[in-house]
Parts: sequence; structure tokens; C-alpha cells
Amino acid sequence: MSRAHKTFDLVIAANRLPVDRVEGPDGEVSWRTSPGGLVTAMESVMKGREGAWVGWAGEAGEAPEPFTADEIHLRPVPLSAAEVAHYYEGFANDTLWPIYHDVIVNATFHRYWFTAYERVNRRFAEAICEVAAEGATVWVHDYQLQLVPEMVREHRPDVRIGWFNHIPFPPVELFAQLPWRRRVLEGLLGADYLGFQRVADAQNFVRACRQLLGLPTRGDVVSVSRDDDARRVRASAVPISIDFKGLDELARQPETQARAKEIRESLGNPETLLLGVDRLDYTKGIGHRIKAYGELLEEDQVAPPREVFVQVATPSRERVAAYRELRLEIEREVGRLNGEYGRIGAQAIQYLHHSYPRQEMAALFVAADVLVVTPLRDGMNLVAKEYVTCRHDGGGALVLSEFAGAFHELHQAFICNPHDIEGLKQTIMAAIVTPEKEKRRRMKAMRRRVSDHDVQRWAARFLDNLAHAPERPERSTSEREADEAHAAADRRARELHHARGPRTKH
Ligand code: ADP
Ligand code: F6P
Repeated sequence: MSRAHKTFDLVIAANRLPVDRVEGPDGEVSWRTSPGGLVTAMESVMKGREGAWVGWAGEAGEAPEPFTADEIHLRPVPLSAAEVAHYYEGFANDTLWPIYHDVIVNATFHRYWFTAYERVNRRFAEAICEVAAEGATVWVHDYQLQLVPEMVREHRPDVRIGWFNHIPFPPVELFAQLPWRRRVLEGLLGADYLGFQRVADAQNFVRACRQLLGLPTRGDVVSVSRDDDARRVRASAVPISIDFKGLDELARQPETQARAKEIRESLGNPETLLLGVDRLDYTKGIGHRIKAYGELLEEDQVAPPREVFVQVATPSRERVAAYRELRLEIEREVGRLNGEYGRIGAQAIQYLHHSYPRQEMAALFVAADVLVVTPLRDGMNLVAKEYVTCRHDGGGALVLSEFAGAFHELHQAFICNPHDIEGLKQTIMAAIVTPEKEKRRRMKAMRRRVSDHDVQRWAARFLDNLAHAPERPERSTSEREADEAHAAADRRARELHHARGPRTKH
């Protein structure tokens, strides 16, 4: 494999570059921030570090020439229209995505989709090998690139390879459905270190290696063969976070505060502004949330303009059938509720199917009295952490599903099981009516957690784990104690929440 002129000591590989290439109707080209939590997190990690980012520019066809943006060397990987359909929309988002999210919708299996996945993963691996300097650190991201670690190792045994999964890793009973399960595990085991959002995700991976590949495992370490001197790979939890400092500063800016005020005014200054912000994805539980809110409207527990619900639903994967169906379903339901409970100048639910600049998102978070986060399964949910970060005023309340990775850190949220509609209604009402003093206590504790565990700390931890793998890095006593205290608090929060049991009326 030939090497490019310039090589880098740190190489990031993710399905998408941080920016998507957009061609306007007259052929004019512009670049737009790519959607999703991965880019939000990694963009701020890469600031100030010299490195390369290998990824797709978001359009089918020839890739643009490599270029530099914000001091990062961007190395676009081309995808043909057929590869977008088979690798990205097909295998990544219609086979793996449902399996890794509890099979909320059925997974589709096509052998030719896997062939495209393999081919595109190889292309990414080749691009990585071209830009990686001797002994470089290669950090591969997410479920779209699970074969890449092994493919890079094959050609470049000199580099250190880490992989981080932004989404859940499924229990072996679900993962076993995948006809290419062995290939995926072997692909991942090409890494030195594998990072996951939750302890349970890392355990699921280790268990899959033991049960499906018959490999020896010990704690969080997998041996790649049964030989005594086999290479060992470590898999552990290192939950992702956000750029607390950057977002906190943005939220405090007078322009953001003024815009938040303006948003409230344009909604008729409601007593309670409820907000949902999600990619329009069936994992996010948007339908469950709207059903619960619809019943609250019907029972007159909420009514516009006293309460207003704003749902931002970011366009996502619109050519995949399950996403198209979801959009129809959500828009029909929002239309029905507005028809039934809205008035002129006072819609029950304001529905916005757009992407917004960061400052507008921050203003929405500042404006909202309640953020409703109800995924049926979510690796982390950065939106929950962003909301908490924007509330330096101590105001606001967070309704949070126990099935989001963020639940394991933000224990003071108003916790719900989105499948339990009655319980969800009660939790939303609790978030509205709980006295300010109690809400402030909760918000303060959550903000402390996010500010102590920001994205910089996440990246430092990941890279430290990678550098020391398969051994655990040394941690200071205070760090260890903090981790243990957090694990105990998480256990307690889960026990308490489950002990309360279902809230369904009988
Ligand atoms: P996912 O990675 O599944 O999309 P996350 O909640 O982890 O979910 O991350 C979503 C990211 O995308 C957040 O940083 C959020 O602020 C951003 N985002 C969501 N909706 C929009 C939107 N309509 N416009 C701009 N950014 C958005
Ligand atoms: O982590 C989930 C993820 O698939 C990321 O890889 C990506 O940033 C985000 O969701 C958005 O998805 P897509 O790239 O398919 O638009």
C-alpha cells in the first residue's frame, strides 16, 4: 500500500466526515456540519490536535480531494450510489442498527449488503493506512466500521488501534441473529482496545466472543486464540460526553439568552415550554412521547397556550423504509393532536423537521422548562447532557428514559420507562409541577456530573486505555474512588427506579 506524502500520529476514522458536502441547485458547493452525536463529540476533541479524519463526505459519487478544515486533515472516502444504498442505508442502518437497538423494528438481511459493507470497510482501512504515520494511534468509530480494525492490523502491525461504539452492543441472543456475526467479532478483535458506552455493552461483547467464537476471556480481556501467548484485547466502558465548557459559554452569551427569550415570546410565553430534540429515529421513542402528551391534552392536564410542546425532529436516513414510515406516523399524530387541541395562535405541538445552528439549539435548551428524552434504546443521548449544560441558571427539568446510556450518569433526572405510557404521563407532570427548589437541586447535581466528565476527559480516558491495553492504566486513588462512588450511585438509582415498579393504572 502506498503512503501519502503527509502522515499523522493520530488518525480518526468515522463513517462521516465532520462536514457534509452539499451541492445546491445551481451546482454551487457548500459544507454543512454532519448530523449526530459522533460529530458533536469528536469535533471538539480534535480541536487543537494535529490529526487526520477519514470519512465519507455525505454524497454519492467521487470523493472531494483531501483538504484541511479547522486544522484537521480531512481525507474523504468515496461511496458509489449503490454503496450508499447497500453499505450505509442497507447493512449499517437496516441490518446492524435494528439488531443493536433491541430489534425495535425487524432487521433485514441481504448477502449483497454485507459484501458492500466489507468492500467499503476495506476502502476505509486503505485510506487509514495511507495517512497513518509509523506507530500512529488509529481511532475507529462506530458500527459502520467494525471490520476496519482487523483490516488495518493486517497491513500495519506498527499502529495502535482503538474502536469506540457510539451505540449499544446487543446481548448475545440478539447479536447471534446476524449471519456474519463471526466476521464482525473477528473484525473488532483486530483492535488493541474496544470502548463502549455502558458496562453492559462491553460485557455483551466479551460474552459474544466467548460463546460464538469459543475464545478464552478473563474479566474484560479476550484472547484472540486459544494459544497461551495469544494477543489480548481489552473491552471496557468509557461513556461519551460533550464539550461542557464550549457549550456553557455559548449558552451564557447575551445573544443566546436574548434568542431564548424571543422563542418563548413567539410561543405566547407559556407557563411551561416542553421540548423534544431527536434525529427522527424509531429508537428515540418520539411516538411514545407524543402518545403520552396526547393523553395529557385529552385529560386537560396540559393545554396550550399554558403548556406548549416543541418537537425538533432532525431529518435522518430518509431513504430507509422504517424511517419513512416513522415520519408519516409522527406527522399524522402531530397533525391530529393540533387539529383536536390547538387553537389559532396556540398549537398543542410545534413540530420542526429541520437542522439548526448550534446557537439556535442552545437557545432552545435555555428556553425549555422541561426536556423530554424518551428513547427505547440509545447508546448515550448527548441531547440530555447538552440540556443540562445550558442550564447554568439552575432552571429546567429533565425527563429521561432508563434505556438511554445517559440514565447511568444523570440519576437526578425524572426517570421514566417510555413503554409505560401512564408512568410517562405521571413523570412529565412531575417534571412540570415539582417545586423549583427541588428541580434546582437536581439540575445542580447533573451539571456537576457533566462538567466533571466532559468530552475531553472521555477522549483522554479512551486514549489512555488504548495506550495501556490490554492492561488497565494506573488511576489515581481519587479517580478510582470517584469511579466506585459513581458505580454505587448508578446501582442504587437502578434499584430505586425498578423498585417503584410500573405506574400503569389497573
Ligand atoms: P444521535 O447520535 O443518535 O443523533 P445524540 O443525542 O447523542 O443522538 O446526538 C445528537 C446530536 O445532534 C446532538 O449534539 C444534538 O444537539 C444534535 N442535533 C439534534 N437535532 C439537531 C437539529 N435539528 N439541528 C442541529 N443539531 C441537532
Ligand atoms: O452513533 C450513532 C450514529 O449513527 C453516528 O454514527 C452518527 O453520527 C449519527 O448516528 C447520525 O447518523 P447518520 O450518520 O446515519 O446520519
